[in-house]
Amino acid sequence: MTDKLIIFDTTLRDGEQSPGASMTKDEKLRIARQLERLKVDVIEAGFAASSNGDFDCVQAIANAIKDSTICSLSRANDRDIARAAEALKGAASGRIHTFIATSPLHMEKKLRMTPDEVFEQSKLAVRFARNLMDDIEFSAEDGYRSDIDFLARVCEAVIKEGARTINIPDTVGYAIPELYGNFIKTLREKVPNSDQAVWSVHCHNDLGMAVANSLAGVKLGGARQIECTINGLGERAGNCSLEEVVMAIKTRRDYFGLDVGVDASQIVQASRMVSQTTGFVVQPNKAVVGANAFAHASGIHQDGVLKARDTYEIMRAEDVGWSANKIVLGKLSGRNAFKQRLQELGVVLESEGEIMAAFAKFKELADRKSEIFDEDILALVGDESVAT
Ligand code: KIV
Ligand code: ZN
Repeated sequence: MTDKLIIFDTTLRDGEQSPGASMTKDEKLRIARQLERLKVDVIEAGFAASSNGDFDCVQAIANAIKDSTICSLSRANDRDIARAAEALKGAASGRIHTFIATSPLHMEKKLRMTPDEVFEQSKLAVRFARNLMDDIEFSAEDGYRSDIDFLARVCEAVIKEGARTINIPDTVGYAIPELYGNFIKTLREKVPNSDQAVWSVHCHNDLGMAVANSLAGVKLGGARQIECTINGLGERAGNCSLEEVVMAIKTRRDYFGLDVGVDASQIVQASRMVSQTTGFVVQPNKAVVGANAFAHASGIHQDGVLKARDTYEIMRAEDVGWSANKIVLGKLSGRNAFKQRLQELGVVLESEGEIMAAFAKFKELADRKSEIFDEDILALVGDESVAT
């Protein structure tokens, strides 16, 4: 098993399945270029067979991007797979990602197929895809709710047919971290040729556990690919969020012991671009990319951070692309944070007494106003105290 964790971004495919998040070709290309700057390993550019428009998007991205593998989703049938291969022709490195549902519920009610039919179709799909391209990923849709012995038989068969990556989605976000991690582990143990494929996790966020489940799939289950989206964009409650999962692996390298190739300094830019393009606002308290993710408002925290940032910061704002962390001045702020802001604004107050008087005025104003801006402080101290 390698120490490298593959980051597979599906913002442009599963993320776009979010109601209201559809993107134009130009928008997708712009995001794909940012994902390349972010150095994700795989970009799932779309579902080529789903429409002519999506075909064009996958093709344009495949032609433009050189440093990440470009992937197209396809159902497990020859027409879809051939369309995916066609769209990926110009890719420096291309991947066909074919899927079929394996849970009893999906097979019976949605596909109206028997398990034996699904088993056969999985094999035939991978065989057909493998004749068109080397890099084939197979996904067992609703994999986590599948019978593990049946799923193991399917996985063994598609690996024999040449699938290089086996993805086990928690399609409906039903998993619990420990259970999902152990499911992946047991499944791999049941598949005799499991070491011939990279195992992948793909978690949805219906119970708010997509990131935790993905990490458990890696740590307990031995998966080495995580499928995720920028800002956790995706159907219903979304997918595993790229920025959170990547920063968890990087910040807690002591625990995971894995390398990720992602250039974290591009994360905030990617988040902004996806948010602006889709109109999906990022909540202020969202980990890593929320406006408050590196903001300190309480006096005790501000004092600590001004003395040593590690006191209340487990990662640096600058490392993920923010220009700096943020000390928010308000009624909870202490004297130290106030003095520091005066200095940054070039305000020179001669004596400790003057500082105390200005600080008292600041506290009085802060009781009336939730956030104090630089202009408020300059007005408080009077312009004549500003060094020129
Ligand atoms: O959630 C899911 O099962 C998927 C597959 C098609 C990979 O998105
Ligand atoms: Zn999905």
